[in-house]
Formats: sequence, structure tokens, C-alpha cells
Amino acid sequence: MDGRELVRSMKVFGSVQGMRAVWSAWRQRRTDAWGLPPRGAERARVPGLAVEAEPAPGGGTVRFARSSLLIRVSSGGTVFWGWDGAEPLPSYALAGEAPDADPRASLEPDTHGGWRIVSERVTVTVSRHGAVELRTPGGVLLRRDLPPRWWEPVAAEDAGPGAGGRTGAVAGDGAGPAADGSAGPAAGGGRWVQRSEVPADARFFGLGGRAAGPRLRDGTYRLWNTDPQRGFGPGDDPLYLTMPVQFVVSDAGTHLAFHDNSWDGRVTLAEGEEGAGSGHDRPGTSEVRMTGGPLRCWVVVGTPARVLHGWAALTGAPALPPSWALGPQHARWGFGSAREVRRVVAGYRERGLPLSALHLDIDHYDGHRVFTVDRERFPDLPGLAEELREQGVRLVSIVDPAVKAEPGDPVYDGGVAVDAFVKDARGQEARGVVWPGECAYPDFTDPAVREWWGGLYEERLRQGFAGVWHDMNEPVSFVPFGEPTLPRSTRHALEGRGGDHREAHNVYGLAMARAGYEGLCRLRPDERPFLFSRSGWAGMQRYGGTWSGDVATGWPGLRASLSLVLGLGLCGVPYSGPDVGGFDGSPSPELFLRWYQLGAWLPLFRTHAAIDAGRREPWEFGPEVLEHARVALAERERLRPYFTTLARLARMTGAPYVRPVWWGTPEDRALRDCEDAFLLGDALLVAPVLTRGADRRAVRLPRGRWYDTATGRAYEGPGQVLLDAPLSRVPVLARAGAVLPVRGEGDELVLEVWAPAAGRTGGGLVVRDTGDGWEPASIERYQSRLVDGRVVVERVTDDGVEEPGPAVRVRGL
Ligand code: NOJ
Repeated sequence: MDGRELVRSMKVFGSVQGMRAVWSAWRQRRTDAWGLPPRGAERARVPGLAVEAEPAPGGGTVRFARSSLLIRVSSGGTVFWGWDGAEPLPSYALAGEAPDADPRASLEPDTHGGWRIVSERVTVTVSRHGAVELRTPGGVLLRRDLPPRWWEPVAAEDAGPGAGGRTGAVAGDGAGPAADGSAGPAAGGGRWVQRSEVPADARFFGLGGRAAGPRLRDGTYRLWNTDPQRGFGPGDDPLYLTMPVQFVVSDAGTHLAFHDNSWDGRVTLAEGEEGAGSGHDRPGTSEVRMTGGPLRCWVVVGTPARVLHGWAALTGAPALPPSWALGPQHARWGFGSAREVRRVVAGYRERGLPLSALHLDIDHYDGHRVFTVDRERFPDLPGLAEELREQGVRLVSIVDPAVKAEPGDPVYDGGVAVDAFVKDARGQEARGVVWPGECAYPDFTDPAVREWWGGLYEERLRQGFAGVWHDMNEPVSFVPFGEPTLPRSTRHALEGRGGDHREAHNVYGLAMARAGYEGLCRLRPDERPFLFSRSGWAGMQRYGGTWSGDVATGWPGLRASLSLVLGLGLCGVPYSGPDVGGFDGSPSPELFLRWYQLGAWLPLFRTHAAIDAGRREPWEFGPEVLEHARVALAERERLRPYFTTLARLARMTGAPYVRPVWWGTPEDRALRDCEDAFLLGDALLVAPVLTRGADRRAVRLPRGRWYDTATGRAYEGPGQVLLDAPLSRVPVLARAGAVLPVRGEGDELVLEVWAPAAGRTGGGLVVRDTGDGWEPASIERYQSRLVDGRVVVERVTDDGVEEPGPAVRVRGL
């Protein structure tokens, strides 16, 4: 720490908070120096040669000279493999038990001295050296995982004098390798690396929320949830929500590979190169390096839709947001008072602009303390909530995990009473610095702490909040240097297994989401919780969605916004959206409008900005922007039944609302490289304007006929077309034959049908809104065809076809 850093921290946090942050950073360094084993001598290990194989249902175990590999194919075509005794459970990602093994598949010797498992959807081979290959049933290679390499600390007596040091500081309660010598998930003994190859034409996506995607270009991506501590753009990595989930698309097929390990890691990706006629392709490569934890992986193969279906089966169906959460929402850090909240809501009402929810940030807390209200600025929050509710506007509350460490504070005292807060290796409460000052952090990896924390949401419900917005849960501790989070040696319960922050860090936000979600379910059993969280990990969709975090205001930030939503959708988290307008500064009217026009087509449609940023109400950018924003809002509202359907389908099938344009045609290579447009469900293709000054843009179409919804003009894909994108709208195309539910006059449901091309049929699914409770919904299936130049729409039932109930509006003829 030098003088410059001190000055920086003062500038950022003010003098008292700045001094606290400096102190906290020093403390972090000291705590870890004491509480973590020093990196001493290490020994490298590879599996060695295979010795024997023991078949079992779905696969079996192959024993190598220095390791063993458990490999199992499940009935749905999902493959699990784990080295060194790693099993699917325990896992923070999985929704329950591991899927059943495919009883018809088993390890059998192959002709190269290795083994293979043949199943309906995938063939797996294991070489004598421990390479695992996945092929399509037709024998085309999807992925080859090369034999891994581990580095393990050499025990003090092996390494000679000086090695080993103070490892005793963390040993003894589960932080080291498990007592039975097996490498369970808590085993932090060794770091490891695994290199994999994918076809030369493959493209990588995923790894959680990445600003520079959605296509992940060559480079190294870190797996460590991180608050960039300022507005971020495409060059910033990692961000708040990382996941070891790769979504790989190639001519051979699509697969998702998930390394189930929550430790700090790095993934280095390199796209391959085809040997243009020479026959020598350079495969794409992925190298996963983890600093500890188990080496185990799930691979799901199939079409993109099938892959995400399998992923949702494994890690859980996405939570269904309440209906109102599909409407327009408005937030701001710094409304500052009930009066200002009323003023803003009245602004929407008076201009006839729909508003579904308004979000209160930390400035409504008393002294920035979670689960409190500043009674001077918000004298009657329940009354305000009620008043807004009558106007159709819900209140959503920010919830930060860190609790002001001050005896006498009821939340802190309550936490101390149930031993809720994380401790350092010496058993002292681990502290950090966040908005309220010195803070303690609940250990959400402890089931009892989750239960206690979930109960605290009772206060939020009493204040009249309808939903929650989890923030700062990477978790953050402000520091002028070092990492802005808890020391790595901080102890965690990890569901009773015991371990430290190296393993718990990346699942902190996920476990907090679970605590909040389960608490809300207990407290208000008749309503579906509305929860979205800045940080998270694989499986977080079970509890809610996420948002961009502090995306920097600027055209690159706009682009990053779309990248995040697309990438997260491919990792199984379908509900997300950016801070429309960007978090900091003041967007130009044009930038604000283009952001708004993008946001209106994304699942979470919310304007938000920092306390010192300019306004984000759509009327603050002049009459022209207001009129165009009004059109975007009206279209969002008209499409609400379609969003309701997409939300239900996401829950039922795992398919995100917002999909890359190659979703249905991953073999179309040009589409794989298209990053500036997306499909909204099956029916629509949205081409937002992401560059300044554009009034036209090129749009790459998947195969089939597409109608420009503004002009009705038909275009034939595949190919690229140039479409008008005046300030008043962005190009949106509808697929020929599509049937989608929209809101008609007087709010009734109408089926909008886009004429099928001659000789072609089409269709669509409709799931009706059943309110904000848990009522099941059924899928209505419609088909469309062209008969003598007339569009015929029918509902398909188990017994045949019938007239559709809702009115039908044909377009594109
Ligand atoms: C950081 C969040 O990302 C942002 O949305 C919020 O406004 C601030 N924290 C203040 O709570």
C-alpha cells in the first residue's frame, strides 16, 4: 500500500470509510498469511496407464496407476466423469440427486486397448492414458478431454526441512483432504489442469456473465466472482457471476461442459482453425485450471434446446417470476425520500407510461443497514407500498448480505445469537467494510444460517415489499488494494463439511439466493418469490434471476448488456437484463433510447443508475425520446402474454427467452458469429441498434421466411438484409408461420399469426397467465398453414384439432 492507494481509497470512500477499508485490506493480507497453508513444494501427478476397468450401470470405473476415473452416462444422454473418487454429490449446482445411470450402457473394451460406453445419444471412450472422448452416435468427435494433471503439496516430511510450515492453521476441521484419503469436494489439496479439444469450427459461449461475449474469443477467463468496483465494459473480466459452464457449438453438434468445482480458476479458450483442404485441422482448445477442489465434469449433448433441457434437469428448473416482474421496472440509487418516489411514479402515471415495479436501493435504509428503513425519509413505507400497489406498482427492495457489526443492532445481535457470521481461522469473526462500515457476513453455506436469514425477510414483507434484489454478494468488502472480498482463509460450514472461502466464495451469492428464496416461500407461501441477484453460480436459476450490475454508460456498455443476457441464458439463467441507460454518468438521448429499445425486449426490463448519475426517467431526454420510449413500452405491454409464455417455457424446458440467432440452426456458421441480434422465443428476431448514429443495420437471418414487423415486408433466409432502424424503433422480424399470444384491445388474449410461406406450416405455444401463485399452467399448441392463400390456424389437442379460442389476427399476407 502506498500513499497513492491511500488517497484513492479516501477519494472513493471518504476519510473514515477510507481508513476502514485500508485497515481491512491489511487485515485481509495478515489473516490469509496466517490462516492459509503456504505454497510449499508440490509434486505433479498424471493418471498413468490404465490397469483395469470395473463396469457398472451407465459406465463404471477405470483404475489407472495413479488415479481412478468414475464415468457414467445417464438415460437422458448426460455424461458424468470424476477423477480421484469424485462423485456427483455433494454439489451446489445440482438440484437433487444425480440422474439415473443408463442401465443399457456400460464400459466395454474397445479395439485400441481402452474402453467405450455406447448409449443412444453419445458414445464415450476412455483411452489407456485417461483421455475421455465424446462422440455423436455417428462417430463424430464433440469433445476430447486429455488426461489431467494435478499438483499436490508434498507432505512436510517428504519435502524436507522448511516445507509445510503452518498448515496446522487450517487443518483439523475439514479444510484439508478428507480423512479417508478420498478427494471429496472439500479437498483443497491439489490444483489441477485439464486441457480439452473441440472441433476446429467450434465456438465457445457461456462461463456465466461475460461482458465481451457472447462468443468467447481466445483468451483467459477467470472463475472468481468479482465486483469490478466501477462501471464495467466489454474489457472487464471477471465480473460478478462466473460459472465453469462452457456452451460449445460446432458442426458436429452442441454440448455443454460443466466442471463442478467452485474454487478459483481460469479457463483459457482458443478457437481452432480448419486446414482449408489440407485435412489438418487445428482443434479448438479449452484449458481449465483450478486452484483446488474436485476434478469432475458433466457434459450434456444434443441440439441447443436439448442441451439446456438436460442442464435444467440436472441443475433445476428456472424459478418463474411473478407476472408483474415481466413488466417495466424503474430503479435508482438515491430516490432519497418517499416524496421523490411519489414524484417519479406520478411522472409515469401522468404521461400514461406503464410501470410495474419501483426498486428502492440502499438509500432507503437507516444508516445503510440491511433490514431497516430510514423513518425520516420514508415515514410510512407500508403506506407508500399500499398506495403504489393501488396504482399497479410493486415495491422491490435491495438486500445486501453484510450486516453492520455493531452490538445492539438487532440483525447483528440476532446473527451472533445463532452463530451466523463467518470466522477466520482463529475463530474470530471475519470482518469487512461495506456501506454501513465494519460488517460481519452471514455464512449462507450453513443451512441453519440460511433459515435464520430467510426469516429476516418478514420485515421486508411487513414494509410492503413485493420482491428482493440481492446486491454486493460476491461478497464485497471495500479495499484499496488486494481483493475486494473476504480473506480466502475465512471459514465456512459448507453444509457441514467445513472448508474455507477458497471453496465458498463463488457459491456465496447462490447460497444467499437460496436463503432468500426459501425464506420468502415460507413467509408468503401463496406467492412466487421475486428475487434477482448480482452474484451467483451454476444452479442459481432455481431461486431467481440476475442483472448486469454496474454496466458502464456508453455504447460498449450497451453491447455488453446483450452479451451478458445471452451468455447467462446459455448457462441456464434465463431471467436477466441490464441497467437500462447504464449505471453511471449520463447517456446521450440517443444512447438512452437505444438502450431502452433493447431493454424492452429482455426479460428483466429495468432502468437504474448510480446515486451520482444523471436521470433515467424516459421523459428526461426530451419529447422525441419520450415518444419513442412510449412505443417501446407499449410493444412490451402488448407482448406481455408472449413473455408470460416464454417464462413458463423456460421453467418447463430450460430454454431461455432470449436466444442466440443460431438456436434452431447451430450448423449455420455465419449465425454462430452473429452477436448483435437475438431470437425472442421461437417467433421473433430482434436486431437492436448498438452503434451511434445508425438508422439502418444489417440483420443476419436464419433460414426460412421472416417478416419485418414494422413494414410487413418478407425476407428469405439464410442471408443478410439491410433494414431501416430509425430512431423510432429497432428492427424486429417475425418468423413466417409463427403463432404468438399478444394483448388485444381491452386486454383480451389475441393470437398473432404470421402467414406461413407457401407449402410450409408453422405454429406456436401459448401458456396463459395464472397469476402470481403456484397454479399449474397448461400449454396450448397451435398450428398454422396456408390453404388457397388463406391462413388457417388450429389448436392441436390430444383428440385432433379444433378452432382456437382466442381471436386470431393474421399478418404478413
Ligand atoms: C451496487 C449495485 O450494482 C448497484 O446496482 C447499486 O445501486 C449499488 N450497489 C448501491 O446499492
